[in-house]
Amino acid sequence: MRVAVAGLGPMGRGIARVFAQAGAAVAIVDVDEETTARGHAKILEDGPVDVTPAASVAEAARDADLFIEAIVERFEAKLALLDRIRAAGNAALVVASNTSSLSIGELGAAYGDPARVIGMHFFNPPTKMRLVEIIRGARTDPEVVDRARAWATGLGKTAVLCADSPNFIVNRVCRPLYYESQLLVTQGVPPAVVDAAVKGALGHRMGPLELLDFTGLHTHLGSSETALREFGDPRYRPIPLTRQLVRAGTTGRAAGRGYYDYALGKPREAQAEVVRQPKESAAKVQLYRTTTCTPEDVAAVRDLANQGRVAVDSSAGGWVEHLPDGVGWVRLHGRFAEVVDDPVAKIAPAHDVADALGVASVPVLALPGLVVDRLMQTMANEALTVVEEGTATGEDVNLALRLGMNHPVGPLEYLEQVGAPEVLAGLRALQEGFGDPRYRPAQLLVRQAAGSRR
Ligand SMILES: NC(=O)c1ccc[n+]([C@@H]2O[C@H](COP(=O)([O-])OP(=O)(O)OC[C@H]3O[C@@H](n4cnc5c(N)ncnc54)[C@H](O)[C@@H]3O)[C@@H](O)[C@H]2O)c1
Repeated sequence: MRVAVAGLGPMGRGIARVFAQAGAAVAIVDVDEETTARGHAKILEDGPVDVTPAASVAEAARDADLFIEAIVERFEAKLALLDRIRAAGNAALVVASNTSSLSIGELGAAYGDPARVIGMHFFNPPTKMRLVEIIRGARTDPEVVDRARAWATGLGKTAVLCADSPNFIVNRVCRPLYYESQLLVTQGVPPAVVDAAVKGALGHRMGPLELLDFTGLHTHLGSSETALREFGDPRYRPIPLTRQLVRAGTTGRAAGRGYYDYALGKPREAQAEVVRQPKESAAKVQLYRTTTCTPEDVAAVRDLANQGRVAVDSSAGGWVEHLPDGVGWVRLHGRFAEVVDDPVAKIAPAHDVADALGVASVPVLALPGLVVDRLMQTMANEALTVVEEGTATGEDVNLALRLGMNHPVGPLEYLEQVGAPEVLAGLRALQEGFGDPRYRPAQLLVRQAAGSRR
């Protein structure tokens, strides 16, 4: 096959490389010959590969099967490029945009032949990341969708299919992960604690705040504003703290400072400092695992406390008011625990419980959902919303998060594991605690929870 790639930033260069490695004849083009030559040289820096610089967009487009645009993320720039591609007169050409935020339908209409325009959203770096989101515009030809999927699969990638919807799948389902982790910071939980909890409990490779720093807070703010504008739903509104940090120029790693101060060290060092390793202990502790804090729960915990050391294993926020004296409060996630340590609420950290269980832990505040359940419940809710509105299938949502974000468990797999009633109860507790429409449960979640009770 013949592929043309326009825009030789990190994305275009990586995309050109993966197609060439898969045996396609690849032509590359940037704004002018000099920039194209520079891009070509940069591609070759990563090892020899057969890609050919083209003298113009028209030359690259003339006899290509697929034209991938990976130029700057500006609508007018993309429109001007589409005009030039169209002017090349290749009626059989499929045009794929790697845009992260623009509407494929709108680009298709501007191109003048929307049936042949599609989104192929690669992840950074394209040479390593296995996921490609295939975005069908409202008028994209189904046969073009099939071909784009086959091309992505031919690169050894996994393709997931997505309707033309703001933020597509991965960036959409991760919105609550980013919003909630930043809200936790504004509510008093240090960034390193949020990240260490997510890594320790969920096995994510990077914490959400270190990831935001890596991507750039200005980029995140931009996609939040897009989501808010496009959906018109207040749940997507940016966190005030993000705006403050962006205005101050502390936009993350590239700026030297964001949620972390990179002059002081790496995020992973700050995270290691907040994780407490267990001490040898032969103590016996009884755990009372519950997702609620009902009067019956409280009575049961009091009974157990009369017999010895007991800790509630729960993220239900009600325990902040009803935890009996002498009872510990933790939330256990396999070999890792959140330990409630809240001087304001006068809840002392139950380190002896973590020791008795032999688990590493982080100290968290007595907030509804603590850290980990709050993040997972809100992500599961967003994932169900995406399925409910027909943006993607549940299977593709799980695949997208596993491959696009390296999450060990997809959000809907998590939902299946813990059950819809627990996730729904968590969201309702958040809604009650914060009075914020962010936590409005998807009707699909409400119906699933009702169905599982019948
Ligand atoms: N960076 C990411 O993590 C990432 C991930 C997924 C998708 N994307 C999307 O991929 C696209 C490219 O991203 P990037 O980070 O590589 O961009 P970039 O801004 O680093 O590079 C863009 C390149 O396009 C060139 N360019 C600009 N106008 C052009 C034109 N008219 N014709 C040809 N070349 C032109 C620029 O000279 C530059 O080399 C954007 O749409 C972006 O939203 C980026």
